[in-house]
Amino acid sequence: MAQQLDTRAEGLHIGFIMDGNGRWAKKRGLPRNAGHRKGAQVFQDITRYCNELGVASASFYAFSTENWKRPAAEVAGIMGLFKDYLVKAFDYKKENNRVCFLGDRTPLAKDLQELMAEIEEGSRQNTGMILNVAINYGGRDELVHAVRSIAGQVREGGLLPEQIDEQLISDRLYTAGQKDPDFILRPSGEMRLSNFLLWQCAYSEFIYMDVLWPDFTRHHLDLALDEYNHRSRRFGGI
Ligand code: IPE
Ligand code: IPE
Ligand code: MG
Repeated sequence: MAQQLDTRAEGLHIGFIMDGNGRWAKKRGLPRNAGHRKGAQVFQDITRYCNELGVASASFYAFSTENWKRPAAEVAGIMGLFKDYLVKAFDYKKENNRVCFLGDRTPLAKDLQELMAEIEEGSRQNTGMILNVAINYGGRDELVHAVRSIAGQVREGGLLPEQIDEQLISDRLYTAGQKDPDFILRPSGEMRLSNFLLWQCAYSEFIYMDVLWPDFTRHHLDLALDEYNHRSRRFGGI
């Protein structure tokens, strides 16, 4: 199967909505942050597996613009984890990933923002997989930022409204220059997008799986890839 996936996975962009950490913890009588901790380990293993499979880009939804509604202790736990585990654990030199953070980072702690900038800068020349981590990301928020930036340019006289096209909008998103996701995988049994990559998902395939993210394994990704490989994508054609 791996050999078949290697070729089929060429140029592939997969989006992961890492969901179900809280339910995983609750089932075990653990605090929700224990689920986030386990979820972060799974994240690392799955990024490695994507790399091994030759996946071109992988985008992981880690924290949404709506997740600030959660109790402060949970938000602090996720941010702490992001800093201690996700950010420091990105061995971007060894793994050769080009790391990009998607989302509005201005409300994040200054030291976190610095680490993120350092990782992006330090991994810019890497030639392996593009690893997008969406943190304080919302598809609508992303579009608001893009519209503001375009409107500002129009006001200054640098752009005519007629010059605004799909490409220009794509170029103002956090994913500027990147290929749209081929498929979005959401574990946890929920069947919704929850504000993830709204513009970019116009023709993405959706794969929902009844497994909580902390229980997600390489085998689940094999199953999802297999399902994706059987989908017929038409992009409006016949
Ligand atoms: C996903 O797991 C992680 C984040 C949204 C930060 P959840 O925390 O949403 O887990 P459930 O959906 O409550 O089980
Ligand atoms: C989506 O999960 C956000 C992330 C996985 C980061 P949520 O748990 O926040 O989504 P809803 O609230 O179930 O739609
Ligand atoms: Mg959830």
